[in-house]
Amino acid sequence: MKRVLIIEPDTRSRNRTQGALESLPCDVQGFEGPADAIRAMMEEMPSLVITRGNEPSEEDLHLLRIARAGHRPVPVLVLADNGNRHGAISYMDAGAYDYVANPSDPNELRATVDEILRLASADEEPGHIAMSEGDHASESQIVGRSPEMIEIFKMIGRVAKSDAAVLIQGESGTGKELVARTIHETSRRAEKPFLAVNCAAIPDTLLESELFGHEKGAFTGATYSRKGKFELSHGGTIFLDEIGDMSLPTQAKILRVLQEHTFERVGGEQTLASDTRIIAATNKSLVKCIEDHQFRVDLFYRLKVVSIFLPALRKRPGDLTLLIDHFVRKYRQQAKVPIRGISQRAQAMLEVQEWTGNVRELENTIQTAVVLNRTGSLECEDFPFLRAAPNAPSFDSGEGSLDRLRDEARKAARVLLMQAGDSTDCAVYRQCVDVMESALVEMALERFEGNQVRASKALGISRNTLRSKMGADVDRGSAAS
Ligand SMILES: Nc1ncnc2c1ncn2[C@@H]1O[C@H](COP(=O)(O)OP(=O)(O)OP(=O)(O)O)[C@@H](O)[C@H]1O
Ligand SMILES: [Mg+2]
Repeated sequence: MKRVLIIEPDTRSRNRTQGALESLPCDVQGFEGPADAIRAMMEEMPSLVITRGNEPSEEDLHLLRIARAGHRPVPVLVLADNGNRHGAISYMDAGAYDYVANPSDPNELRATVDEILRLASADEEPGHIAMSEGDHASESQIVGRSPEMIEIFKMIGRVAKSDAAVLIQGESGTGKELVARTIHETSRRAEKPFLAVNCAAIPDTLLESELFGHEKGAFTGATYSRKGKFELSHGGTIFLDEIGDMSLPTQAKILRVLQEHTFERVGGEQTLASDTRIIAATNKSLVKCIEDHQFRVDLFYRLKVVSIFLPALRKRPGDLTLLIDHFVRKYRQQAKVPIRGISQRAQAMLEVQEWTGNVRELENTIQTAVVLNRTGSLECEDFPFLRAAPNAPSFDSGEGSLDRLRDEARKAARVLLMQAGDSTDCAVYRQCVDVMESALVEMALERFEGNQVRASKALGISRNTLRSKMGADVDRGSAAS
């Protein structure tokens, strides 16, 4: 049986809160202050703590720390009679699960508590996928187990020993820089610098000086001589990112480094020897650049001695689970939040995404979800910007759908009413009803491919009513435009 602790100094309101939760399948215990509740928590951690307060006291903060200290964080719900900005920020910053300003409706409280208890135990359900234990191995560790990535790992192993130039191609965010770094770290150059230069981000006039350095007076503003990246990475590796954006004159100089291992500083006369391995990357098609006379064909072949092509993430779905596990562990360690796993529904949702931004997009998505998560298990709700999995509808069939719709509607209404404040000219009621009506009409027509008779039957309204609602939709559409 789940245990819920309620902390309320006032006996009457404590009884009221307890009463509101009576019908839920949980054991509710009331306490006058945080100190008693903390003692009870030490004996056995509850599933939820509800506390009343406008701003956190020292004791509240202590309670919040204890609630988050265990392997499984205990959500703390704050009921604030005088909700205010400072209180909301302080409680949430201290790790509260939610801060409900001016709670008044016992049904709403019951729905909120029911939802928290459901989410907090999501990882006990059969569909939960647990994350690996232990700390994250390394920031720059490259992970993958798809046949495509295994081939890439083999390639890295093969080329690391040599000094050959490497060209890495692939869409943005597929891990080109990470592969370059891994090659460097596996090579005999590992102790020497790895320097990355983004050729697209530096104006052409400055790129040469960035790469080769310059002598004092070489150009206006060159008030002192300066070493370039080739000199600074001597003995190590230089990573020329976005090489497809490099100008033709600079390309000629890179070609010379590759062929003769020499270069001069801009404005300098002395020829310097280069012992830097070149790894280049691009997300452009260099073949197309060559056709457009934007890229030298001889440099292309020189760079392409070893060529690695990184497939898009959607082409190697076998890596997704491993990458999710990797990033959850990376960010839970950084954010110091104990995330234990992910629900099957959320995992399915991640699996159907296009990931046009590839691994970087996945990484950012997981990072946001880990930081925002409050239950210790990643749920669909933690990924509000992703499209739902087609086989995981957000509402179950029948009764469950309406219950959830009611919950969602309550939440939305609460926000809209808060935004409306004390204003007298708001149309919250009309707006909400309009939104629901037009969603029903639109979906019914879509479901029955425009057949009004079938759509009106399914909605349980007359055809005339349906037509008038369709008219209202058009009116609203044109009024809005
Ligand atoms: N296989 C992988 N394992 C772990 N992390 C990865 C993997 N691939 C990419 N990443 C991470 O994804 C992010 C993007 O990778 P990276 O910067 O190497 O991509 P890129 O191909 O160079 O992108 P762009 O073309 O936009 O520069 C980085 O944080 C990187 O650590
Ligand atoms: Mg990159």
